[in-house]
Amino acid sequence: MTQIELPTVLPTGELRFPAGFVWGAATASYQIEGAVDEDGRTPSIWDTFSRRPGAIVDGDTGDVACEHYRRMPQDVALMKELGLGSYRFSVAWPRVRPDGGAVNQAGLDFYQRLVDELLAADIQPWVTLYHWDLPQALEDAGGWTNRDTAYRFLDFALSVYDAVGDRVPTMTTLNEPWCSAFQGYTGGQHAPGRQEGAAGLVAAHHLLLAHGLVVQAIRELDTHIDLGITLNLTVADPFDPTNPADLDAARRIDGLHNRVFLDPVLRGSYPADVLEDTAALTFGGLPWHEVVRDGDLAVISSPIDVLGVNYYHGDAVSGRPQPAPAHNGVRHPTQSVVTPYLDDRIVFPPRGLPLTGLGWEVQPEGLTRLLVRLRDDYAPPPMYVTENGAAYPDVLVDGAVEDPERRDYIDAHLRAVHVALAAGVDVRGFYQWSLLDNFEWAFGYGQRFGIVYVDYATQARIPKASARYYARVARTGVVPGDPEEVG
Ligand code: FCB
Repeated sequence: MTQIELPTVLPTGELRFPAGFVWGAATASYQIEGAVDEDGRTPSIWDTFSRRPGAIVDGDTGDVACEHYRRMPQDVALMKELGLGSYRFSVAWPRVRPDGGAVNQAGLDFYQRLVDELLAADIQPWVTLYHWDLPQALEDAGGWTNRDTAYRFLDFALSVYDAVGDRVPTMTTLNEPWCSAFQGYTGGQHAPGRQEGAAGLVAAHHLLLAHGLVVQAIRELDTHIDLGITLNLTVADPFDPTNPADLDAARRIDGLHNRVFLDPVLRGSYPADVLEDTAALTFGGLPWHEVVRDGDLAVISSPIDVLGVNYYHGDAVSGRPQPAPAHNGVRHPTQSVVTPYLDDRIVFPPRGLPLTGLGWEVQPEGLTRLLVRLRDDYAPPPMYVTENGAAYPDVLVDGAVEDPERRDYIDAHLRAVHVALAAGVDVRGFYQWSLLDNFEWAFGYGQRFGIVYVDYATQARIPKASARYYARVARTGVVPGDPEEVG
């Protein structure tokens, strides 16, 4: 529980961040690289899934994306121009170990060059080992529902560590295992698009095992590099805090979204209520939790040095039927999906908050509450906001993109982080999602999250007004009193 009184209104005026606070931006391999069959790369589950009819809006794929694989030096130069202190990127597993097999030097070379280029530009690399592009060959062998995948991940991680570990201050294992597990194996919204109920829980356990194995193995080799994981966490508020069904639904969402990952990593156990709620779910004819073997939780809870927190919005949660929200005009994939939450009575009624272009609620105060709660409940290692950002329908007019909504979104969330800092929470940095407009998974290229606009016809990069704003914050460490003053 929160020990302090948090302001309910975000502070106004100029806000100074601590010296050394890291200002960065993030991307992910499949979302920007393109070049899907170059230099020995073989298909990932996203190459396969994006070809499934109806899975992605407009049938978009990552085949070309932002052509970052070819344009990497210019993209690093752009980061330099924007004054970024750090760049969080992910490594494509099927480039480095095609089909999950032997090392492909040409694939590793790309990341060596990227790290060298970043360091030469005085930008600290933050490596994410897994941002969802599992080699398809491993999925064909069961993917994350197969325990062996965790050991293949260890092989992959060690080859990346061998190549760049000496020059990279921070290496995190997984990005948002909730999405990989529950959207990938239970709901089917994401690759590999399986809809198998308890498979999400099984996948979550093997992802966590993969994380722990890598932390343990790299820690033995290296006591300097910071190791950790990035979780996407929510703030689950009961829609009606006096209604028992809503309270229970909020508890379940906190369990299945947050605690099912936080507890094993930071406490070495699965939450008892989640185990109880899911006790009857079977995988391969056995209770799902039989995949948890003796010793796994000790591996999973190997000490970490950093916790990455991805936050976009919290959720009001109800356990009762609610009127369907008004259609907000967002185009969704046409394939049929099921709830990733293992219980279709749970719904997320809108609260009348402003919405982003993707229909996500804008709820900056949730970020303060999340960071304070993590500190109070888990005593985590230093935290970094490894993703936060918003999609809006940007338009290029006379060579420029004015995106005041995104600028204000960033401004509000930075203020929310500042409140947490003032409450004594150890937050060390902030990564904007995203550097570039890119392939937004099931939503394809129609949803633009970049602070830099990408003209996909020409691959031109055009910094938006929000990039000018963020660059100023990154250079000064100060959130200006009036975001509009940054022209
Ligand atoms: C997160 C993902 C990231 C991006 C943002 C909008 O869930 O980690 O790749 O798609 O959402």
